[in-house]
Parts: sequence; C-alpha cells; structure tokens
Amino acid sequence: MNLQYTDMLALLGVGGAHPGGLHLTKEVLVKEDITNVTTILDIGCGTGQTAAYLFWEYGCKVSACDLNETMVQKANKRFKRMNLPLKAQVGHAEQLSFSDETFDIVLFESVAAFTDLSRSLKECCRVLKKGGVALAIEMIKEPHLSEQDEHLLTDFYRFQSMLTEKQWMERWEQAGFSIVTSGHEHVMEQDDQPVDFGTEFDLSARIPSTVYDLLDAHERLTEKFQSSLGFRVFRCIR
Ligand SMILES: C[S@@+](CC[C@H](N)C(=O)[O-])C[C@H]1O[C@@H](n2cnc3c(N)ncnc32)[C@H](O)[C@@H]1O
Repeated sequence: MNLQYTDMLALLGVGGAHPGGLHLTKEVLVKEDITNVTTILDIGCGTGQTAAYLFWEYGCKVSACDLNETMVQKANKRFKRMNLPLKAQVGHAEQLSFSDETFDIVLFESVAAFTDLSRSLKECCRVLKKGGVALAIEMIKEPHLSEQDEHLLTDFYRFQSMLTEKQWMERWEQAGFSIVTSGHEHVMEQDDQPVDFGTEFDLSARIPSTVYDLLDAHERLTEKFQSSLGFRVFRCIR
C-alpha cells in the first residue's frame, strides 16, 4: 500500500493536525462573531476536533467534510462519544455538495494546500454567503526555499501547491474574495510543527509499519525545514 502523509494522519487519528493546533483555532475563532445561528463548514475536518469544539463552545450550526473515509469515521465516532448532533460526510473541497451561499464561515485548517486551489477556493467562495468569511490556517514557504527542497516537501506532503504568503493572498483574491488579510506571522518551531502531535491520537486497529516510517520522515523534515516554512492565518471576506 502506497501510504501518503494524510493517510498516516488518518490511521493515527491525529486531532488538531494543523500548525498551532486547537489552541490557535480557539484564538482565531474567538475574534469572529459566532452565535448559535452561525453556519460554519469545516472542510478537511480530519477527526472532527474543531467541529466538535465549535458546537460545544458556540452551539452553532456546524457541517464537516473530509475526503478521507477513515477521518470521517473517526470524526463521527467523536461526535457520537460526545453525544453531539453532528455528522461529518465524505466530501471533496473541489466539489462541495452544499448549495450556494449556505455558510457564514468556512474553515480550512491545513487543508487548502492539499487541494486543487483553482477549484477549491472558488467552491469555498460559492458556498459562503455574501460577506461571509473564509478562515484558513495554512503553511507557507519562505521565499528563500530552494526549488529542490520545495520538491522534497511537495513530494512528501503531496501538496498540490506550496505558496509564499503573497502567492496565497493572490490566490484568494483570484477566487473572488474581496478583502484578504493574513495574520499570525509565524516561522515553524519545534513546538508548533505542521502537526501538533502533542494533541491527541485515535489509532486505527491495524497500523502498517510504513506509517511509523512516515512519522519518522516527517519529524526529520520539520526539523530540517524549520526556518524555511511558516504558517499564516488567512481571513478572506466574500
Ligand atoms: C493536515 S490534515 C488537517 C485535518 C484537520 N483540519 C485538522 O486540523 O485536524 C488535512 C486534511 O485535509 C483532508 N483533505 C485533503 N485534501 C482534501 C480535499 N481535496 N477535500 C477534502 N479534504 C481534503 C485530509 O484528508 C486531511 O484530513
């Protein structure tokens, strides 16, 4: 089986698999005006940690999707365990099953870089209400990253795009967003790696040994590229 990085995350059931983890998520969300009638879509929801938090904290209307079936199963297992009326579904960021102008907020927490941006950002814009907000926590490459190292990282993570902060902002604007801002200027440090492994795991019953090889390779890469990678929180208004 040719396992990818995101399969590894799914098999290990890593929750909060984005830079800054749930801690940063909370910081980002608290700045938004979220009430119990706010509609939020978490694209690439992983094990559903953020979706569960959103419902738990704000009682808002949460939808969640991910293309990885194992992730969706683990998210639904979480919702059941917590007795939450949520249901994650299998769905592709590039072709969302939701109607136009459904959501007040759409979240991408370390997801957009894995998608076909020319389609996923437009889809995000389509399902947002006018004036709605896309919030994305995404890895950025620092401009000094060599082409060779970029290939290495792209091959490992299977990113469809590795963009600088400026390129990300351009892509959001091209997708139809009017006001795009970026915050949390951050260089990756050991403690806030692309995946906050300190957070939590929900291990699958059978985990191939290659998963642990991937985990090792991932640790080595993040150590090596600490100064060439960072992340930003992009806030984009439709
Ligand atoms: C790094 S993980 C982040 C998971 C979750 N957002 C979190 O922070 O814990 C990236 C997630 O994006 C999902 N993903 C990747 N490409 C996707 C796509 N095109 N559409 C929907 N989900 C996708 C993966 O399956 C994975 O669960």
